[in-house]
Amino acid sequence: MRSADPARAIRETYLAATPASAAAARRAAGSLPGGDTRTMTWYAPYPLFLTHGEGTRVRDADGRWYEDMLANYGALAHGHDHPALVAAVTRQISRGTAPGGPTAAQYEHAERLRALTPSMERIRYCNSGTEATMWAVRTARAHTGRDLIVKIDGGYHGTHEWGQVSAFFTAPEDSGDAPTRPRPARGVPAATAADVAVVPYNDIRTAATTFDRIGDRVAAVIVEPVLGVGGGIPSGPGYIAALGALAHAHGALLILDECATVRLGPWQRRHGVVPDLTTHSKVIGGGLPLGAFGGRADLMAVFDPAGPDPLYHASAFGGNSLSLAAGIAALDRFGQREIAHLDLLGERLRRGLDAAARATGVHGHAVGEGGLSYFHFGDTPPRDAAATARLRRGRAELRALLHLDLLHAGYLTAPHGLLCQHVLTEPATIDDFTAAYATCLDRLRPYLADHHPELLTRASADTVRAAI
Ligand SMILES: Cc1ncc(COP(=O)(O)O)c(C=O)c1O
Repeated sequence: MRSADPARAIRETYLAATPASAAAARRAAGSLPGGDTRTMTWYAPYPLFLTHGEGTRVRDADGRWYEDMLANYGALAHGHDHPALVAAVTRQISRGTAPGGPTAAQYEHAERLRALTPSMERIRYCNSGTEATMWAVRTARAHTGRDLIVKIDGGYHGTHEWGQVSAFFTAPEDSGDAPTRPRPARGVPAATAADVAVVPYNDIRTAATTFDRIGDRVAAVIVEPVLGVGGGIPSGPGYIAALGALAHAHGALLILDECATVRLGPWQRRHGVVPDLTTHSKVIGGGLPLGAFGGRADLMAVFDPAGPDPLYHASAFGGNSLSLAAGIAALDRFGQREIAHLDLLGERLRRGLDAAARATGVHGHAVGEGGLSYFHFGDTPPRDAAATARLRRGRAELRALLHLDLLHAGYLTAPHGLLCQHVLTEPATIDDFTAAYATCLDRLRPYLADHHPELLTRASADTVRAAI
């Protein structure tokens, strides 16, 4: 039995179960600010330090195993030690990782990527999603001769300068700011924000007004077909196609950022939308760093080194053999069967999470598409990042407690609510996970009654009161 104060019990359980992670965090803090090197992976009091991955499970420094329901924030899809991927990397590493000239692996990976995403007639490689979106936008700017880009409020495209304009934050409710005012992160020059126009997701009217105002200066609109970091929000029917039509009507390009949604097939293939440029990363690298951008051959011709005034796109490890070898092995195991399996898992997960919320009398919803899901507390699923911010406001501790309690139950997730699976994950694992989710929600009901009574149904609140 746990104590009547679930928040305290959950924290104490975490501290008691993770002394080796605590020690690692202390040691790490001597070299890394705060003890971590990815802002996304840190959480209080300290994150689990992970030592092993095996199949769909990971092990922490204390030797506890967790079923991986996060897949490195959607960057993995084939588990942690897939024999074919391990063999491909092992074979390649003995032959060199980056020989310093073109390799067959580059066109062999590109041929597979074109088959997966036919709108990518020509492709260039880089090492991350950040680089991929940076280069896609530069391609659009070089082609159109225009500087402005239109991006989504809460649209996440990585950590370069314009990517950190309105990447997470929407206007605070009481600030009086329009949610469409570009908000550069600390350290990003105001001049960068001046080249970015920001529009809310799933709102084609505001996009149309924006294009009417500045469309003749816009190089491209860049958009995630499912708003990932912004809350796992699917784009509404026709929204992405309408954005593309708007851009084209003003002589601008449509860039689809499919870094996360490649796990959907990618998204553009299942929805029949053909962008001018696409960015990929994550799954296409088979567990190693790899980014790619590409699209119409005439646009990508700006990189042809033998052409007139080519764009200078260099990178010491761009298109390196190791990432491409892993990526080729991954793409060879990422066909319709695997994508359909991820879809099935995602749908089962969202149904199960909704059922868990209903069964415990907690107001919450699963959202997402295919193998990319999110759980939000609150009444109404969000349609844009401002709605996500409203649903999260004042509930950081609640989400943190749910996350720690899920760890205790043996499931690796993320505090913000993202859930992604591997193609090796079994449907039964999803059912076990959603059952554990229900148990954790149930355990949190006294906390909810005290701190967030609006999140309990009346019947649920009554049973909490009766139990006191
Ligand atoms: C849609 C999208 N674009 C770009 C990126 C940036 O990728 P990276 O972290 O590899 O730089 C991410 C990463 O989460 C992403 O989800």
